[in-house]
Amino acid sequence: MTWIPGRTGFRYGGDYNPEQWSSEVWAEDIRLMQDAGVNLVSIGIFSWVMLEPREGEYDFSFLDEIIGMLSDAGIDIDLATPTAAPPAWFWKAYPDSHPVLRDGTRLGFGSRGMVSPSSPDYRRAATAIASKLAERYGTHPAVVMWHVHNEYGAPISDSYDDNSVTAFRAWLRTRYGTLDTLNRAWGTQFWGQTYGEWDEIDAPRQSASVSNQAQRLDFQRFTSDALLACFTAERDAIRAHSDRPITTNFMATNCPSVDYWKWAKEVDIVANDHYLAAERTDNHVMLAMDADLTRSLAASEPWILMEHSSSAVNWQPRNIAKRPGELARNSLQHVARGCDAVMFFQFRASRYGAEKFHSAMLPHAGTNSRVWREVVGLGGELASLSEVAGSRVSARVAIVWSIESFWAMDLDWRPSADLDHRERIEAFYSSLWRRGVTVDFVHPSADLTGYAAVFAPSLYLLADAEAANIREYVAGGGILAVSYFSGIVMANDEVPAGAYPGQLREVLGLAVHEFLPLRDGELVTLDTGATGSVWADDIVLTGAEAVANYTNGPAASGVAITRNRHGRGAAHYVSTTLASVDLDRFVESVLDDAGVAHAVLPDGLEIVTRESESQRVRFLLNHSDDAIEYEGNQVEGGAVFVVRENADAVPHYGA
Ligand code: GAL
Repeated sequence: MTWIPGRTGFRYGGDYNPEQWSSEVWAEDIRLMQDAGVNLVSIGIFSWVMLEPREGEYDFSFLDEIIGMLSDAGIDIDLATPTAAPPAWFWKAYPDSHPVLRDGTRLGFGSRGMVSPSSPDYRRAATAIASKLAERYGTHPAVVMWHVHNEYGAPISDSYDDNSVTAFRAWLRTRYGTLDTLNRAWGTQFWGQTYGEWDEIDAPRQSASVSNQAQRLDFQRFTSDALLACFTAERDAIRAHSDRPITTNFMATNCPSVDYWKWAKEVDIVANDHYLAAERTDNHVMLAMDADLTRSLAASEPWILMEHSSSAVNWQPRNIAKRPGELARNSLQHVARGCDAVMFFQFRASRYGAEKFHSAMLPHAGTNSRVWREVVGLGGELASLSEVAGSRVSARVAIVWSIESFWAMDLDWRPSADLDHRERIEAFYSSLWRRGVTVDFVHPSADLTGYAAVFAPSLYLLADAEAANIREYVAGGGILAVSYFSGIVMANDEVPAGAYPGQLREVLGLAVHEFLPLRDGELVTLDTGATGSVWADDIVLTGAEAVANYTNGPAASGVAITRNRHGRGAAHYVSTTLASVDLDRFVESVLDDAGVAHAVLPDGLEIVTRESESQRVRFLLNHSDDAIEYEGNQVEGGAVFVVRENADAVPHYGA
């Protein structure tokens, strides 16, 4: 099941939290939803205490009524399990379920968010309410899908409570079998940490100096698995009574604690929440990156934008309102990158509580407002594009995305505080974006053979099988580009024997004898005229050719950029943070090597194609304020053009 059965065309709507309003307001909301073309709403996300006011006592009258009203209006329901907001009675009865932070702080009630994922009481209570909901509504014709929990992993994920410690030990027993194996994997001989009994092992809580890094890495893996077990327990409870697709909302590039590659295999449809980091002037590029990762997690099947904002959020340092037209442009940008459902948080703006200053589809200002007019406009645009739903986006270039590598690289005591994997991925992605190159993200063990070029920016950790996969890709004819501090450690953060980067030495045809991090703000120059910062390596060539050398700095006259032929392919290496224009040259040389077409697009223009067997549709999105002339189309500032093959351009918004 990869889509909502029986539903074609785009889905449009948002979270609806009717518990805030009287039933007269519900009737008005539903009329307004119809005016806006809303055809799907997520309800019940935070309704636990209304549905189960006391443990084991259920009252579904509120849901019966609102589901009945939505259903009569022809609006589909994405029914949530309310398990991200356990009621006050739960916390009173099961205080041991409160999450505990690494520094020992036990969190309290009065908000929402995750319980200790390893609390057996929570697991029992959550699956009970999920099961009751599925029993009652699992075959309701208007309940077309399930929304389990809300944003697993946010706002916190890892918990250091007693239940988590017990569950961590069990998880380690499964992973390692014996304490000897665990002691070896964690390198516990160093600093005298050897374990003699399983119950000596603790969660890696705050300690006097750096905690064992392999232990911390395993705790991250364990936490992702523990959260996933919460999801699958609820999912299976629902599945016993309902055959509708089941999902949970991801935060693709923005959830540091969950391994979505694993999770994506467990949901029926991939759903994602995305909020702009509004203050960044390149936030449209970051939106594209998030959408591309989401599509990749969905294995190119259509996906749901489960939440985004109509305008400002309320949780950033400065909550910048969207400019006129931006609501639709952001939405269509997700659509251009493969999404088939555009949803917002939330339908009607709250008047009290934590999110009263967050924008909504229906703002405090009411229907005579710019935001509402744009919401209605977008409903019409999506309806007019309905034949695009179901078509695919394809990419010839991939960037490796490994959350395990992120986790490991973020641990303490790395060679430089300026090492930043996220910054490197964003830099490479942005360069490709500016060249109109559509990118997939891939797990390091994925089948890479379909890609002409694969980029691995800051891929610090590579398990043996992953490194072998990358080697085979190049040997088979692939073009690989690697940036510094990649392939440095294996699965347990251990350095393989020999010079760096042990996991990639052979494919890159070089050995790094020493890391040469630069001082804060220090710049180095290459003999091509390029500028580098942050890093340099002491490189010894073992087969690769030097493409550029350093003229100064700690690696003066040493090698900076290389290319190595390996089998039928080639691997490029860059050992410093190149200035943006110089990184562009490097990226172009890799694309040329791979035979991938690229052209620098006019500033702010984005082009993406969606294709099906019967049609090819190009989205031209102008993120700048000025009109752009492109292939005979005049794309107004802020506008989106949708160009159907063999047809005239259709201006779609903002002009
Ligand atoms: C999301 C969350 C929503 C709402 C939204 C506000 O992270 O799932 O419930 O809080 O943020 O931007």
